Amino acid sequence: MTQVTNMLQAQENTIKSVEEKILSQLPSGIHLAQTQEEIQAIINLRKNFYQDDRDEVKAFHDDGLDTSGYVFYSMDSNGSITATVRLLLDSQRGFPEEEFLPESVHQMRKTGKVFAELGRLLILEHQSTQLPLLYKVVYDVAHILNVDAILIVMKKNNYSSHQKIMEVKILSEEMGLSWDKEKATLCLVEWDIKAPQDKFYKLANRSIDHKFRKKMWDQYSTYHLGVCTSVQHEVYSDIASKVKGHILDLGCGTGRIMGFIQENPHSLSYTGIDVSKGMIELATELKDRLAYKQANLIISNIEKIEGKYDTIVSTLSYYCWHNKELCLNHIKGMLSENGIFFLVTPNNEFDKEKLTRLVIRDSFGHPYLDKFLSFNFDIAEKAKYPTLDELIKQVRKAGFSIISAHSNFFLGGVSCLELKTSL
Ligand SMILES: C[S@@+](CC[C@H](N)C(=O)[O-])C[C@H]1O[C@@H](n2cnc3c(N)ncnc32)[C@H](O)[C@@H]1O
Repeated sequence: MTQVTNMLQAQENTIKSVEEKILSQLPSGIHLAQTQEEIQAIINLRKNFYQDDRDEVKAFHDDGLDTSGYVFYSMDSNGSITATVRLLLDSQRGFPEEEFLPESVHQMRKTGKVFAELGRLLILEHQSTQLPLLYKVVYDVAHILNVDAILIVMKKNNYSSHQKIMEVKILSEEMGLSWDKEKATLCLVEWDIKAPQDKFYKLANRSIDHKFRKKMWDQYSTYHLGVCTSVQHEVYSDIASKVKGHILDLGCGTGRIMGFIQENPHSLSYTGIDVSKGMIELATELKDRLAYKQANLIISNIEKIEGKYDTIVSTLSYYCWHNKELCLNHIKGMLSENGIFFLVTPNNEFDKEKLTRLVIRDSFGHPYLDKFLSFNFDIAEKAKYPTLDELIKQVRKAGFSIISAHSNFFLGGVSCLELKTSL
């Protein structure tokens, strides 16, 4: 009996801490419905909005699932609700449109994929600018809830705009008729929220996120491979001497560290992943020239990689990750027992002028020198590099503990952390 009580208490604590996290991340003006009064006001809004007596429309207003989902809303200055949306985790109670779900969803459920449904979206006409904001809220909350993909039932003529911006794909063309007077046919789409979302980030106005685009890294790839400075060598050879087992390199670029890892007898395999196709193509050429059989190179976003690794490394990439907290959480889940994560990223002491002199010293006469420098100036201009202390706070918050921390390389301009997961 005590065991059951403890379990229920633990569950309740988890729910509370998830809710706290959601509340702390909500943008101003967006609320999470937490009381019966708030839910009832939202149900009333749905009723007033559709004013239709069809049975399915009645079910739309109040399907009894609001209290098991996360219902968000915004209000005008008079306190009237102007927009609302609901995120519902796939559970034993299923989705509201469960009977219409295509076989593909049942199959994906069997593989352990976690779904949530974005539904009951209603925005009063004069508030249409709220749409990206509500989607952004749902997207962020879905990440907090460890959801892989969001399912949305929508009118078919809304599909192409969603496809363009969120790269959704259709799972079913036939999900019945819409709730409004038009009675348009509805379709079911899947929004893969772990895929890169450049256009969506831009639309949702995520300020820093779209400073670093895939395309920019593609353009930089030739110069990244071409020029490799002595300060980079120091970092790569230091990290490579400490790795062991199966190694994952996140944001590997053109895989410059790969040749150093290849020489370490304790390394069993190297997997480099990068979101940029250009970077991975050149890294693959380098791998072939090194004849490194145990190396794999994959075009992927960090959040999409699966598997367990003994060592995870990431050099000079963290500062441009779109969603650092999400990536750190995901990395934690990929470390094998006793696994180590080496994180190296520029800090606020990064001295552009002094480092430039070193690059010129090392690579004067190199045909790509000027391009290399101008790309790096551009990056340093756009980036906001955290202090060593700030970085430590960020990784601790994500559940890592520090084995070692220093800033000995790059003339003190990079923070180097050796991390393990906290117990
Ligand atoms: C400056 S390069 C560093 C490459 C290499 N690690 C090094 O030390 O030279 C940063 C790389 O991180 C990659 N990157 C940024 N965010 C990423 C993400 N979320 N998932 C995968 N790669 C990412 C970029 O495409 C880029 O190639």
